[in-house]
Amino acid sequence: MFIMPLLSMTNVKRHYETPAGTVKALDGINFQIDEGERVLLLGPSGSGKTTLLNCLSALDSPTDGSYSFMGSEVPRGNSEEMTSFRRENIGYVFQFFNLLQDLTVIENISLIQELAGNKDKSRAEELLRLVGLHSERDRFPGEISGGQQQRVAIARSIAKRPTLLLGDELTGNLDTETSDKVMQVLVEACEKENITAVLVTHDESLIVYATRVIRVDSGRIVSDEKTVSSEKATIS
Ligand SMILES: Nc1ncnc2c1ncn2[C@@H]1O[C@H](COP(=O)(O)OP(=O)(O)OP(=O)(O)O)[C@@H](O)[C@H]1O
Ligand SMILES: [Mg+2]
Repeated sequence: MFIMPLLSMTNVKRHYETPAGTVKALDGINFQIDEGERVLLLGPSGSGKTTLLNCLSALDSPTDGSYSFMGSEVPRGNSEEMTSFRRENIGYVFQFFNLLQDLTVIENISLIQELAGNKDKSRAEELLRLVGLHSERDRFPGEISGGQQQRVAIARSIAKRPTLLLGDELTGNLDTETSDKVMQVLVEACEKENITAVLVTHDESLIVYATRVIRVDSGRIVSDEKTVSSEKATIS
């Protein structure tokens, strides 16, 4: 049986024209990602990881090549269409949590969902439990730890049920123990909610949480391998 990939990039390029010449941030990216995969994106500084995430989320557009998502070409050049693509499909978690400081934990989680027109309060409560922060419900971001703030950010980003969750160094600001806790929560949430994830990191130790590891260098994919946990995922 042929199963359509969730997304597919074919010869994607993102070149910048600068006074000093052309910068080839992405230079011929080819891959497909299936539903339920958790991809770790590794590569040296300046290799194109953030550029690739920005193209995946339609925050930015390739200058060449094709990017299709659930069988349709992703809009480019029209910021309204790009924004609605993002609203419908993408969740994003940043390195520096990006929580609203004047809102409580539960308000931060329900906000995006409410902006998307969903008034279902029980959803935010459910996610609060999923990330293990029920007793921190009414505290402000300044009153909880970095790891707890990142768990709030994860809950917030999945509240609207994105198809694809993107993270850029989402544990970059956390110690090892805390990043493990955050990653465990993220994996559990993705599995429970059937969310596909692409996560950028410099941290090789996070490979255990991924089903696939893609390494990039100078705007190209240099290796693309399934991990041991991808086998576990297909057996269970
Ligand atoms: N607006 C821009 N104009 C010109 N060049 C850019 C621009 N944005 C990024 N680049 C270049 O594109 C390349 C890829 O950048 P990118 O931010 O994707 O790297 P990265 O892999 O995320 O690096 P890091 O690990 O340091 O975050 C770099 O050489 C960068 O200097
Ligand atoms: Mg980057």
